[in-house]
Amino acid sequence: MSYPFQIKTKEAYEKAYQQSVSDPEGFWADVAEQFTWKQKWDKVLNWDFKDTFIEWFRGGKLNITENCLDRHLEDRGDTPAIIWEPNDPESRHRILTYKELHFKVMQFAHVLRNNGVKKGDRVCIYLGMVPELAIATLACARIGAIHSVIFGGFSAQSIADRLQDAHAAFIITADGAYRGNKDIPLKSTIDDALTTCPFVRKVIVLTRTHTPVSMIKGRDVWWEDEIKNVETMGNPYFEAEVMDAEDPLFILYTSGSTGKPKGVVHSCGGYMVYTTYSFVNVFQYTPGDVYFCTADIGWITGHSYIVYGPLAAGATTLIFEGIPTYPDAGRFWDIVDKHRVNILYTAPTAIRSLMSFGTDLIKQYKLDSLKVLGSVGEPINEEAWHWFDENIGKGKCPIVDTWWQTETGGIMISNLAGVTPSKPSYATLPLPGIQPVLVDENGNDAQPVTNDKGETIVSGNLCIRFPWPGILRTTYGDHERFKQAYFSTYENKYFTGDGSFRDTDGNYRITGRVDDVLNVSGHRIGTAEVENAINMHSGVIESAVVGYPHPIKGQGIYAFVVTENSHVHELNKDDILQTVSRLIGAIAKPDKIQLVSGLPKTRSGKIMRRILRKIAEGETGNIGDTSTLLDPAVVEDIIKNKL
Ligand code: WTA
Repeated sequence: MSYPFQIKTKEAYEKAYQQSVSDPEGFWADVAEQFTWKQKWDKVLNWDFKDTFIEWFRGGKLNITENCLDRHLEDRGDTPAIIWEPNDPESRHRILTYKELHFKVMQFAHVLRNNGVKKGDRVCIYLGMVPELAIATLACARIGAIHSVIFGGFSAQSIADRLQDAHAAFIITADGAYRGNKDIPLKSTIDDALTTCPFVRKVIVLTRTHTPVSMIKGRDVWWEDEIKNVETMGNPYFEAEVMDAEDPLFILYTSGSTGKPKGVVHSCGGYMVYTTYSFVNVFQYTPGDVYFCTADIGWITGHSYIVYGPLAAGATTLIFEGIPTYPDAGRFWDIVDKHRVNILYTAPTAIRSLMSFGTDLIKQYKLDSLKVLGSVGEPINEEAWHWFDENIGKGKCPIVDTWWQTETGGIMISNLAGVTPSKPSYATLPLPGIQPVLVDENGNDAQPVTNDKGETIVSGNLCIRFPWPGILRTTYGDHERFKQAYFSTYENKYFTGDGSFRDTDGNYRITGRVDDVLNVSGHRIGTAEVENAINMHSGVIESAVVGYPHPIKGQGIYAFVVTENSHVHELNKDDILQTVSRLIGAIAKPDKIQLVSGLPKTRSGKIMRRILRKIAEGETGNIGDTSTLLDPAVVEDIIKNKL
């Protein structure tokens, strides 16, 4: 497989970038030509950021699984598509060639059809990191059903919220999942969620942990039994459903600044083109390379850069079931050596956590197969960047710092490995087709200023002023929300929610969210979501949640909680944590809870988060003006009892 759109020199990057701006339609049409379409598109791009509609390759007919599977069969049918490394290093790993994966996806597409799933139906997938997660995802795409993968760490209540929002009548799960030394009871969590989701018709359950599970007659079926039924049917071929380029491929829920997670919707055609294009260019994938992305498929990184991008490129993608510290903190390095991994894509939080174990363990591994390293999810601090470079890359592997979002579908700003220069802690340059702008509060182009190091920089809120094929198309069931969240802050621009600055060479350095979204260990969590959960707890009157710098997680969660007087002494912080775990999931548990007598509010009743943020960050000497507060005394009280 060759990639005619792969950029191999800095000059070629510049040329591609220029082309993508002067003739975006021609540029993306050339890329899209490299895929298998059942019918060519009528129009490359229709868009209006004001009216909020975006269409790429409208009228084009395709099925993404034919691009991820069928088209590779002839040339690379016997090449590994998936290498699966189990949680327990003593258990056997599995390899699925493109032929085998194709077969299994078709088999499972039959299972879906036999269970009543049709094109356009929403199917929720709640599984650990097993190959069947990729198989189920692709089988949905094969049949034209819209998958909604939910990360295994979310609680029953979170699942129920998502099932209800998408009105998903089908669920694919497992008895349980292995993660480190824990067994996660997936099916039992689903059972709890289903008490409020009577519309769910079928639950397909994979056997993994042999945990006892309740199976309800008529509703719950075993994955393995269903596969047996398909085997007796004879010919396993499953004709891929014909999809329009703009038909939805999946929904993925993510946190925003309001309480309710948003169902980000991606389309079939543009998403495929963009994830493949960015995968091949950012990582400089060469056929035969083994590529290992450590993310979970429950997040966008896993969708785009474990499943769709790599498979559409005919790559070998490694799926790891476990965690970086099990059985010890050398696990990633063990996997790299064992499977001769060439490209390793991970997150700053994982790097910082592994840094804390020192370098002795690393010395036991060769790590000589590595060619490219990547980082995603949050800004990578310089210390972590250099540690990664020196200890893992041995100073010879380019590091790509990839900035993007659930909404963008694929990597937006990043160096291209070994092609365009890296700069520690900078995501660097936009990919071809991406037109970032930095704006001030009024939406005007931000102007250059001199920073305290004497450098000229432009600093502002990061927007994108032109569509790219991977952009989200709507938020599920609520187009108005899509408009509000992304296109109402600044006219005619997609607003990312991130702040950034840009140096004189055009390199972007993302500084983090400027809205009420936290980034905890690379996971997006809305402060309002956590507050809503805390406020549900008996005895809590109100709360305010802010982020603070955390050495490993990037950001930690600090909650200020006002309780009913009579409860102050009885109210146990662990109970509040339990409520948050139940309502959202353990990932949203505050690191610190401070019980306070009141929150700093303006006279109009608005909570002054700026002040709470300063306190949480430990900058108590620099609180700023408190004269507009209803009761300035609460601030002193909070500072006095700060955790
Ligand atoms: C942050 C993850 C700095 C950013 C793919 C963004 C980053 C949010 C980087 C999206 C990076 C992601 N440098 N910040 N390389 N990558 N972010 O939707 O704040 O889970 O808005 O997508 O993560 O998180 P999401």
